[in-house]
Amino acid sequence: MTVAERLIVASNRLPVVLDRTPGEGWKVSRGSGGLVTALEPVLREREGTWIGWPGVSEDELPEVDSVLERESGRIGYRVRGVGLTPREEEDFYLGFSNQVIWPLFHDFQTQCNFDPTFWRAYREVNRRFAKVIARESAPNDFIWVQDYHLMSVAEELSQRPSRRRTGFFLHIPFPPLDLFVKLPWRFTLLRSLLHYDLIGFQTARDRNNFIHCVQTLAPDVTVEGEGRVVEVRIGERVVRVGAFPIAIDFDEFADSAASNAVSERVARLWSEFPGRQIILGVDRLDYSKGIPHKLQGFRLALERYPSLQEKVSLVQLVIPSREDIPEYHAIRTEIERLVGRISGEFTRPGWVPIHYQYGRWDREELIAHYRAARINLVTSLKDGMNLVAKEFSAASLEGDGVLILSEYAGATAQLQQDAILVNPYDVEDVAEAIHTACTMPEEERRARMGRIRDKIRKEDIFWWVDVFLKAARGEDLGEWSSLDAYQPPAPPGFFDAVGTASS
Ligand code: G6P
Repeated sequence: MTVAERLIVASNRLPVVLDRTPGEGWKVSRGSGGLVTALEPVLREREGTWIGWPGVSEDELPEVDSVLERESGRIGYRVRGVGLTPREEEDFYLGFSNQVIWPLFHDFQTQCNFDPTFWRAYREVNRRFAKVIARESAPNDFIWVQDYHLMSVAEELSQRPSRRRTGFFLHIPFPPLDLFVKLPWRFTLLRSLLHYDLIGFQTARDRNNFIHCVQTLAPDVTVEGEGRVVEVRIGERVVRVGAFPIAIDFDEFADSAASNAVSERVARLWSEFPGRQIILGVDRLDYSKGIPHKLQGFRLALERYPSLQEKVSLVQLVIPSREDIPEYHAIRTEIERLVGRISGEFTRPGWVPIHYQYGRWDREELIAHYRAARINLVTSLKDGMNLVAKEFSAASLEGDGVLILSEYAGATAQLQQDAILVNPYDVEDVAEAIHTACTMPEEERRARMGRIRDKIRKEDIFWWVDVFLKAARGEDLGEWSSLDAYQPPAPPGFFDAVGTASS
């Protein structure tokens, strides 16, 4: 990419959040998340634009556009909105994106609602994104599309007069062939993806699943090369396909964790849990996060190892999400029933086993919890990456935190040597892992956390943006650990089977 070439990012959500306060108009705040932190400097340097849905309907867009215009001047790159009608919010966002692709790609085939209306809305909204992208970009700009809401954008762009170079990154897992073929629109969607010039996945698991689908469902296409980025040839076109594990702004987390404000909150938390180890869970409300499995595992650990009672507390934050989808309601009810049952069974005067919160913490509170906790318990049933695991480790300044990580989280491909791995479906395994983590000698805890921190410090979010953009230019990517050969302490082929293969 030469200096004159600009970067255009498209994602469902914008990096700014808009709120309308009655009588006061629109309030704009900065979106959170590593992706925003990482892309902002690149967008500023490249006179870039970020295109997304500002969470408003189409008829509010003209009003919101001027707010976004002002915001663009302030943040140093352009932000442009794509409006959705209330029907499209239902059918495209809550429907196809979150009741078809989300459950299917996370192996929850039985939760899918394959409503053809959803599919039509998905195509329509992807077409609208393509239209705005075409309008806001020039032929030699690079278009980087983010996540499962926008898989058909490159195809829609290809039907417009002048071509754009495009890259796509899937933040969620890509399912194995036998699940992907359940999708009524499997051939069309797969072909749609093949209009991108570069497709990035989180792990080799996802990339290999995708390649397997391509080889089976698109036999006229050939796959060449091996290693990090392979080439898929369709006639004259070449699509590069690779795995690029997303990361966090390590220094930002570590520095915030060391700040006075956070240190004070950490001291407060420690005084609130005197002589007790905090086991921390932070999850968006989602059935893919395995929160009931975590609670069951914790319950069994308390029952099997009474010495843990009064010595550990599970602090579980559940962040509200997609509340208009019935399955999300159901999972919340199940979680709250379990929390009540476990509390009723184990609570003693002066000790509560689970501190459950449904809501949001501000950033300082979140980082203070990461730093104060001894253990982070991640039990996702399937997860693209799981950035909580990386954030906890970056904020673990005492250096003795223990990460218990699901075998089915993408982060396992990088961190399997030093995390305690669990199969969240195996309640005894989770209970044993909790006991192991609570009783692990300090020296071992420090050695493991030290290695985790070294890895995520090196492979941070800036590195991630860099390797993706290098891959888009066809440049050499250098070495990195996540795809380096590693012999897991499990039977040969085990990690291929569970899906977190490291090569
Ligand atoms: C996942 C997806 C993101 C999405 C986020 C929050 O991390 O990969 O694309 O933005 O969940 O979900 P929401 O539906 O609120 O955007």
